[in-house]
Parts: sequence; C-alpha cells; structure tokens
Amino acid sequence: MTIQAQVDDLLARMTPAEKAGQLTQYFYFRLPAGAQPVLDFDADEQPRMVESKLQQGEVGSLLFVTDPAEINRLQRLAVQGNRFGIPLLFGFDVIHGLRTIFPVPIAMAASWDPAVIERAQAVAGREARAAGIHWTFAPMVDIARDPRWGRIIEGAGEDPYLGAAVASAQVRGFQGGEVGTPDRVIAGPKHFAGYGYALGGRDYDEVNLSDSELWNVVFPPFQAAIAAGAGNIMTGYMDLNGIPATGNRWLFTEVLRETWGFEGFVVSDANAVRNLLTHGFAADLTEAGARGVNAGVDMEMVISDAAYATLPAALDAGHIDIQTIDASVRRVLEAKFRLGLMDHPYVDEDRAREVLADPAHREVSRIAAERSAVLLRNDGNLLPLDAGALTSVAVVGPLADSRRDTIGPWVFDFDLTETITVLEGIRGAVGGDVRVDYAPGVTVVQREFPSLFDMFGGNTPSDPDGFDEAAEFRRAVDLSREADVAVMVVGEWQNMIGEMASRSSLELPGRQLELLQAIVATGTPVVLLVMNGRPLDLRWAADNVPAILDIWYPGTQGGAAVANLVFGHVSPGGKLPFTWPRSVGQIPMIYGHTRSHEPENQARRYWDEASTPLFPFGHGLSYGRFDYRDLAVEPTTSIVSGTVTVSVEVTNTSDREADEVVQLYLHQRSGTASRPVRELKGFQRITLAAGETRTIAFPVGPDERRYWNAAARDWVTDSSIFDLWVGTDSTASLTTTLQVGQE
Ligand code: NOJ
Repeated sequence: MTIQAQVDDLLARMTPAEKAGQLTQYFYFRLPAGAQPVLDFDADEQPRMVESKLQQGEVGSLLFVTDPAEINRLQRLAVQGNRFGIPLLFGFDVIHGLRTIFPVPIAMAASWDPAVIERAQAVAGREARAAGIHWTFAPMVDIARDPRWGRIIEGAGEDPYLGAAVASAQVRGFQGGEVGTPDRVIAGPKHFAGYGYALGGRDYDEVNLSDSELWNVVFPPFQAAIAAGAGNIMTGYMDLNGIPATGNRWLFTEVLRETWGFEGFVVSDANAVRNLLTHGFAADLTEAGARGVNAGVDMEMVISDAAYATLPAALDAGHIDIQTIDASVRRVLEAKFRLGLMDHPYVDEDRAREVLADPAHREVSRIAAERSAVLLRNDGNLLPLDAGALTSVAVVGPLADSRRDTIGPWVFDFDLTETITVLEGIRGAVGGDVRVDYAPGVTVVQREFPSLFDMFGGNTPSDPDGFDEAAEFRRAVDLSREADVAVMVVGEWQNMIGEMASRSSLELPGRQLELLQAIVATGTPVVLLVMNGRPLDLRWAADNVPAILDIWYPGTQGGAAVANLVFGHVSPGGKLPFTWPRSVGQIPMIYGHTRSHEPENQARRYWDEASTPLFPFGHGLSYGRFDYRDLAVEPTTSIVSGTVTVSVEVTNTSDREADEVVQLYLHQRSGTASRPVRELKGFQRITLAAGETRTIAFPVGPDERRYWNAAARDWVTDSSIFDLWVGTDSTASLTTTLQVGQE
C-alpha cells in the first residue's frame, strides 16, 4: 500500500479528537534538580499531564526529550495509548550539535563554506537520530540586521544570498535529500517570516517589513531551504505588518504552499497558537485554534492547554471544516510514514551511546571552528605566533577558561568534560618549554534580567569563591607585562546572546575593556580573541590592539581550533556575515543599501562619527596574501534572459597555503526600481598553495539580476548597465561592467 493509501485509511477511521491529538506537540520538560522554571508552568504537573494525554492517544509529537531510554518509554506510552498505534515524532532544538557541539550558527555562516556546514549538520543529524530525535527546529534562516537582537547568533547574518546558501547547506546536512534519509532528521527552517526584524532589536516585538524587503531579503533563505527539501517550517511569535505571523493565512497558505509548492508540515512556535489570544487577534482559545489551522499551521507546539484540543468543538461550531483538519493530519502522518516510524518506533539505546561518542564527530567540530574564525586585524603580522620562539604566554579573561561559554548558547545535551577551552588549547599546543600563565582578571558579569535558559543550569558561576577582583586585575596585568605575548579573550557570556537576550548596547560587558587597556599599556604584544555571536563595540581595540581574531563560540573543540589558528597550523579564512558597526547608534547598518540622495556623503550621514562600519560585510584577513587580476565578462553584453560568465584570476602571493573567499558583487545602474549599491551574487571559498593561481568563474544571469519590484508587485529583470566587483570583501575595488539589453 502506498503511504497515501495508508494515510487515507487512518483518516477514515480517526475521530476528530484523535486527529486533533496528531496536530498537538507538547513540551516534556525535566529540569535539573532544584532548578526554578523561568516560564510560567508547573514543572511537576506538566509531565504528568502529558503522560495522561499520551495514554489517551491525544498527542502527535513531543519536544525537549533527548535521553534515548526516556524517548522509548514515552514512545511506548503513545503507541499503546493510541487505537492505531501511531507513534510520536520527537522534535528538539538541535541548533549547532547535540552531544558534539559545533560553532554557533553565525560562526558557521562566517565560514562561507557550504560543504563544512553541511558536514557539521549531518553529524548533528546523525547524533540526534541515533538518540531517537526525528526532527530538528533548525536551521534558523531569519535575516538579522539589528545586532541588538540576540538571535542574530542563530542565523547567517544580514545577506539574503549568503543566507540562502547557508540555509540550503544546513537542510542538506540535517535531512539529506528527503525526509526519511537514514541517519538524518527532518529540518525545520524558522521562523516564517520576518522575526529577525523585531522593532528596536527587542526579541518578540512587532515587525514591520516592506513588500520589497520581504521578497528580496527575508524570503530567499526560506525558499532556498524549501528547494533543498526541508520537511517542516516553524512560524514566528511576532506580529508581521499588524497580523500575528502564526495566524497569517497569506504566509502559510498563499506564499508557502500555493506559490512555492511546500509539501511538508508547519509547526507553530511554542505557545504561538494560544498566543493569538494574547495578541488580541482571536477572541478565545477555540477561535485561536481554528484560525491557526485555517491559516495553514498544521501542528501546535505548546506547554499545556492546547488550542488545538478545541478543534473538535470548532468543527461542531462550523469554524473549520474536516477537509482542512484532514489536510493537516495527512501532512503529519506522511512525515511519520516517511521516517519509517510506523514500523520502527523505538530507538536502539546501545547504538545511541556509540554514535554519540564517535571521535570522528569531534574532528568535524574542530575543522568547523577553524574554518569559522575571522581575522579582523593583524597589524605587523603579529599572528601567527611562532611557538618555538616563545618562552612565556599570558592568557587572560574569564572566557578563556570557561567550558560552558566556549560551546555557546542553545545547547543542552553537551558534555563539558570533553570541551576544550582556549587556555587548554594553548597549553596543549605549546609544549612543555613555554610557560603559560592564566589570570581571569575580571569577574563574570551577570545579566540585569535573568535568561530563559538559566533554568537549565550549567552557567558560568557568578562569583567564584574567593575572587578578589582588584588583586586578580593586577595579577592579569603583571603576568601580561612579564610574558612574551598576552592572549586575551573578551566577549559576552553565553547567556547574554540568543533567545530573550537582546541588548541595548554593544559594549564589552563588565570591566573587560578596562583590563584590555591596562594590558595593552604594559607594552607586551596583545592578541585579542573575541567570543561573541553579534558585533561588539571594538572601536578602541581596532585602533590599539595589533591582532584581533573573532573565534565566536567555537564549540566542543574550540580551544584546539583556536590554538591551531593562533600558532599558524591553519590560516584563518572566515569572513564576516554582517556589517560590523562602530557603535550601537549606527544600527541598523548594512552594506546593501540604496544610493539615495547625495551618495557622495554616504560616509558622513552623522555629524559626530563616520557612518561607515568598523569592519565591512565580507571582511576577513588571512596569513596568506591574495592578488586579484584579469576580471573579465564573457560575453560583455547580454540580453535580459541571457547568462554571462564573470571570471577573475586569484594568486596566493605569500609563501604559505591559505584560504580565500572570492566574492562577487553586482549593482544595477538604472531600471524600474532603485537597487542596492552592491549585492552579493556569488562566492567561492578556495584553498591556494603558496604561489598558486586559479581562475574563478561565476555565472551572472536572470537569477542574479531579478528582484521583486514593489510597484509591479512582481519579479522583474531590467535591462541596464550593471557594475560588477570581485574581491576579498564588500568594498572590493576591481570592477567591470556588463551591458544587458532587451531581448
Ligand atoms: C521558542 C523558539 O522561538 C524556537 O526557535 C524554538 O525552536 C522553540 N522555542 C522550541 O524550543
């Protein structure tokens, strides 16, 4: 029997209450002993409620369970409690690894390396599936142009072209070609759509987006993820242009299904269907549930009091019809059949242990961290350090030896004992002849308001016993003065970035800048390592510290990767996936703005500070040196439907192997809309041996030139002269033109 026939058969026999159950996904929380829930729910009662619903066959999916034995236990309750033995889907936020933790998503995007991103998420998918998880709430493909918004860390930054490439690499990695690929999980790109544009960067606040920005900037990564086969999409919490995203039929039915042909299932963000009430959109829970399903939101993710439990009542009252409910149930059941769950609902606990311990996974994590780091500045080629020429190194800053911070936010199932900090990485790399001293120097900083995630424990202790900050500060400065080189790690603690971790400032928290200034004043050369998921205010450092390497939150193998970079075993090759502003007042700042009025004054839009970034989009230095020449377009003219090839010769003129990301930018000079001064339209990360030259080619055709025109409310491809630039970042100067005429 085909999957479709089997689903038809079930649908014909299920009651409305059983169907509503399949459309309901509950959290199943077990908090660490003694933990205080930050959310408003009863941590003892909630799991009891879920278990009783499982026994009555009224649950389709659970989230937040990661222990294979627990997954089997709950699955058994579901299978036995359901008249048809329909198993549960287990979903989880596998964002940057399950047991093996990879660099955070914004770091992975900074690799500009779709192959490494795909490989890393394939490992994450393998671990998750082995543990009994079937579906990840990832990738987050929300474009983020306001770094005050903490969730910028979960995405690929500001650019739709890079965002689309990263989104599809992640989907390929997590899911493989299609739902049901062995050792993979369903990918759920989120949050459809526009969540990254929260007003003021304040998480969950409303979003107001123009038609042009929605289609040209926000949608492309979603479309790419769907084209890569993503089996699921998650809604957003916020209002989009005055309509709660989760109740927006235009988004989930007209755009997602009717225009893009999405065939998977849609899940709400947590409690977001119930929240149609909170938004002042639905009048009661029954209306909220009906409007969710009618909008095209197949499954409700909820903690308790599911709105979708009222669907049978909404059906009786005529607020929804059975065909609409059946269409949603069909999508959910199809996913279960495709995953093979109907025949094999349980997970092999022994195999889970083996897969989670696989050393090959740690190796992928180290490589990903090496490829993600971005060398922001390297004055006088201070980096790489020559370990053989050193006698002593001072390592400074509390983040330098914090395992929990090294792996970053949005991880739960980690094993801190195998996490390598920067201090440990450096100690391991230099050998016994070099003295490595460590001083945190300043105390760990706390948030003004606690994090949602603090309830899961594992944070850096707030005030380690006996920490005398004045003495520690002095010790850090003294050690630095006596050392050949000081390596200082600065940044935000991991609970300061992510969901509900928006900030009104970009400054280094606490006394980190003060300590950095005191260390630089000793005269010892300073290497600054930045642990972050958003751009921070590094104006002072960019003027005064010779070497700055952005290591992000580099993951399980972070310290080993950082040591390989610092001592030159590999060259940094990452590039910024966002424009790095000078200060918070410049936000939002993007490279792809339009020319507007008086473009010659673009750098002087404020009277008090240059309106240029501290580091441009696409920026990242290397230990190698690259020369670009012979930029050519073939043929030099084209018609609107035609495609040309843009090529350039890149030579590594240094005496060592190194990576470069060759970037292509385009600008349309005239047409039926004003177009951005530059738009990324191609990139390739390449490894060149010392002295090696390679010709890199990019196609430029209708796909690269078309855009959504807000006046025509349609895609257009104009005839125009196009400027093209190829180079090492978004300020590349090597340029040529392409003439595109009518057919
Ligand atoms: C809320 C977040 O917005 C979403 O991204 C996440 O997947 C769910 N919670 C489940 O943890």
